[in-house]
Formats: sequence, C-alpha cells, structure tokens
Amino acid sequence: MKIFLDTADLNEIRKWQAYSILDGVTTNPSIMLKYGGYDMEVRAKEICQLVHPCPVSVEVTSNDHAEMLAQGRLFATWADNVVVKIPVINEYGEPSLDVVRTLVDESIKVNMTACLSFGQVVLGAKAGATYISIFGGRVSDEGHDASEVIRNSVEWLTHWDYPSEIIVGSIRTAMDVQEAVLAGAHIVTTPPKLLEKFIDHHYSRETVRGFNEDAQKALAKMAEAKMAETELVTAKRSELR
Ligand code: E4P
Repeated sequence: MKIFLDTADLNEIRKWQAYSILDGVTTNPSIMLKYGGYDMEVRAKEICQLVHPCPVSVEVTSNDHAEMLAQGRLFATWADNVVVKIPVINEYGEPSLDVVRTLVDESIKVNMTACLSFGQVVLGAKAGATYISIFGGRVSDEGHDASEVIRNSVEWLTHWDYPSEIIVGSIRTAMDVQEAVLAGAHIVTTPPKLLEKFIDHHYSRETVRGFNEDAQKALAKMAEAKMAETELVTAKRSELR
C-alpha cells in the first residue's frame, strides 16, 4: 500500500520525504491555489523534481476534451513523473473516458479523478486509467458508505485483473485513512496534518519521557558509583602512605 501526500506545500513534502514514507503527491487546482501554486507549471515542476521518480498528479483545468488533451500532453512534457489528472466527467456531466484512453494510448499516465461511485471506477478501468481516485470524504458527504465503494472497486479490479490502482482521496480524518486502508485501497492520498495525527500519540511521548528520565537517573547513579570508587582508592592510597 502506498501513501501519497495531497498537497502542493513544498515544505511539507520535504518533511515527509525525509521520513522515507512518501510514495507520491496529488494536487488539484484548489490545492495549488491554497498553497500559493498560482503558476501551476512552476509548482508542478518543483514538486516533480523534489519527489522524483515518485508520481505527481497534476489536474487539467478545462471542460473541453480537446483542451484536456492538449493540457495533458503539455503536462507530460514537464517531467517524466507527471501523472495527468482527468475528471471522470466534466461539469456538464460529459464523460472524459475518451480523453483517458487517448492519453493512456500515448503512454501518458492518467489519474481519473473525482470518482464517487463504483460504476465510475468500472468505466475508468475499462478506459485504461493508470489510477482511479475515489473521493472518500465526498462519498460520505452524499450519505454513502465510502468503505463499501472502495472495497467493491478493489475486489472487482482484482477479480478481472485490471491494472488500475485505486487512490482514495478527500481524506478528512485519521479514521478516513484507516478505513480506506482496511477497505483495501492501493493508495491513500492524505493532507500532511493527518499523517501528524497518525504518528503522534500523547502516551508514546510520555513513555519515551519516562525512559529518558530513567536513562538520566542511571547516568547519575553511574557517576555517583564512580565518585565513590575514586574516593575509596584515594583513601586507600593515603592509608598506605
Ligand atoms: C485528491 O486527489 C483530491 O484532489 C482531493 O483529495 C480532494 O479532496 P477534497 O474533497 O477535500 O477536495
């Protein structure tokens, strides 16, 4: 199972990369805006360079299929680890499956994004998507069971031997990460602050504090013992004189 960071914050990416647990990065236009990546090309290139050869998803910004294709082809020239994010449908409900297929046939990796249902996953896999992003949080917003959609999707892909990997995004709580992982997601893409929640624990801190205190006490005891030994030797020497 892989962990991607859902961010365009370079410092956070550097930080988690240094812990060696980072397998990739996902962005979207809202994330780019939030983290000051107003020039998408510049920020995407910076991220790609930072995490190379791990994949970095960069999303097209048009409803028009010809423009999606042109943007996708352009993004793919920015770095060899770019993955082009294509929304499953545009804002008018027109499927982007043809765009996905064309880019994949040109050996461009595609993350078919904004998926909220099992049916979308099935069609994305048939269109050849490299990755399919299920937006877990938004599935729950709609009153559906995200775990069920994830589990059914992964089982179906495995059963029919489709190579598409499921990325679960729209993660809002540490519990969402846990549920996605346990439902069999190939990849979870999470905001950095939730990874903090995953790793930190007040009782782990307290446990380590206890060990550190005892280690200090042991050092003090060792110093005391050494001092007593030195005093004994000095006393013996003066007796002999
Ligand atoms: C990931 O690929 C998505 O872009 C992201 O997780 C969407 O999350 P949101 O539902 O919080 O916007």
